[in-house]
Amino acid sequence: MADKKLSTFGQEVGRRSWAEPWKIKMVEPIRLPNKEERQRAMSAAGYNTFLLRSEDVYIDLLTDSGTNAMSDRQWAGLMMGDEAYAGSRNFYNLERVIQEYYGYPYIVPTHQGRGAEHLISQTVIKAGQYVPANMYFTTTRLHQELAGGIFVDVIVDNAHDPADLHPFKGNVDIEKLKSLIKKVGQANIAYVSLAGTVNMAGGQPVSMANVKELRTLCNGYGIKVFLDATRMVENAFFIKEREKGYENSSVANILKEFCSYTDGAWMSSKKDHLVNIGGWLAVNDQDLFDRLRNMVVVYEGLHTYGGMAGRDMEAVSIGIKEAVADENVRARIKQVQYLADLLMDWDIPIVKPVGGHGVFLDAGEFYPHIPQDQFPAQTLAAQLYLDSGVRGMERGVVSSGRDPETGKHRYPALELMRLAIPRRVYTQSHMDVTAEAIKEVYRHRDETLGLKMVYEPKYMRFFQARFEPIEKGAA
Ligand code: F0G
Repeated sequence: MADKKLSTFGQEVGRRSWAEPWKIKMVEPIRLPNKEERQRAMSAAGYNTFLLRSEDVYIDLLTDSGTNAMSDRQWAGLMMGDEAYAGSRNFYNLERVIQEYYGYPYIVPTHQGRGAEHLISQTVIKAGQYVPANMYFTTTRLHQELAGGIFVDVIVDNAHDPADLHPFKGNVDIEKLKSLIKKVGQANIAYVSLAGTVNMAGGQPVSMANVKELRTLCNGYGIKVFLDATRMVENAFFIKEREKGYENSSVANILKEFCSYTDGAWMSSKKDHLVNIGGWLAVNDQDLFDRLRNMVVVYEGLHTYGGMAGRDMEAVSIGIKEAVADENVRARIKQVQYLADLLMDWDIPIVKPVGGHGVFLDAGEFYPHIPQDQFPAQTLAAQLYLDSGVRGMERGVVSSGRDPETGKHRYPALELMRLAIPRRVYTQSHMDVTAEAIKEVYRHRDETLGLKMVYEPKYMRFFQARFEPIEKGAA
């Protein structure tokens, strides 16, 4: 750019880059399948990237869940696994670390996030009660509905607009929540389900001011607030970057303060905690803890392992400490921003501001000629794989599923294709290759047609649904 002063090496003068606070000790080879192989793999997968074999994928941005690279410390921790059925040392380590960094006293381990969602939903929700939330997440809402809950979205309207630059698009709209409470009565609210960051909105954060206000409101009505803490470390980083008064606080302190305004949390450790498997539930109330601890032995395993091996719990404990280090989360989020910046430079429509765990392409804007019932985001994920072997995921009408009452598609305002970035796995060059592939797919956007769904499973259809391309003239 003309206004930047360049050195003799072409570097911007005065520029100071960020870099990862680690170096690479072991590598895993990956391979780009050729065009025919990609075409074959995509048809065999029914145009659903969840049904591709990972061996057929070059750069895998399907999810940041369980796909993270562990550190040498975490691998060493695996060797310290105490695989006792009851009372494993690793459980007590994990309990201590969660108490220290998240602040909740009572901990129930689970095999992953949805194990925890199942337990809390079945234990706390009474059939017919409402569960207000800052947007839905697929597994979270399903467990709430299976427990008889009625989900109500109370996120701020800004979250539904991909171009809205509000810095905290994950916030709860306090007025929407108030009017719901007034309408149905506080006894008919199971709890407020709060997530930081909000996955389906594009990884958007909740501000500290908002959670404080929510706490005050809920105190007034005696309503509990439970937190989906899956990506709360990333949320804490955004508070540090964007919210006045927190510039000089550590991510660890922000995380703990935020959690202090909630009554408990569930966690998919497969994200923030830099591991491949694991999760937990944590609460402040001892009676609730006793009930959850009793449920865990029915569905997950004994209350000192909850579906995890001892070694897995050790890797989570070490991962929590690594995750909250400011330089770790900074490098993670800046890598996501690096990819987003390339796309924005080329005017490719993405959700803004850029979220914590990935870049979300606005497929509605990318393919304005493809109607939502021909699955623009699903189409975009398929086209990207066909072009370059890069795997992303649909986060639009397919993920949104059907309304349990009417059986009709739920048409979300956001029709997105997510490129989730695993932590500590890919380099900046992988981001370059990905951005260039998207640019190529964008160049061919006008000639791209949508998909039709030819198989639809009952639950969480996005995982297993199958599609076929719509032929020219058939649309
Ligand atoms: N909550 C959020 C916000 C999530 O993103 C996920 C998982 C869960 C709960 C459930 O946790 O997978 O450990 O059972 N999200 C993954 C994703 C699957 O790709 O975004 P889990």
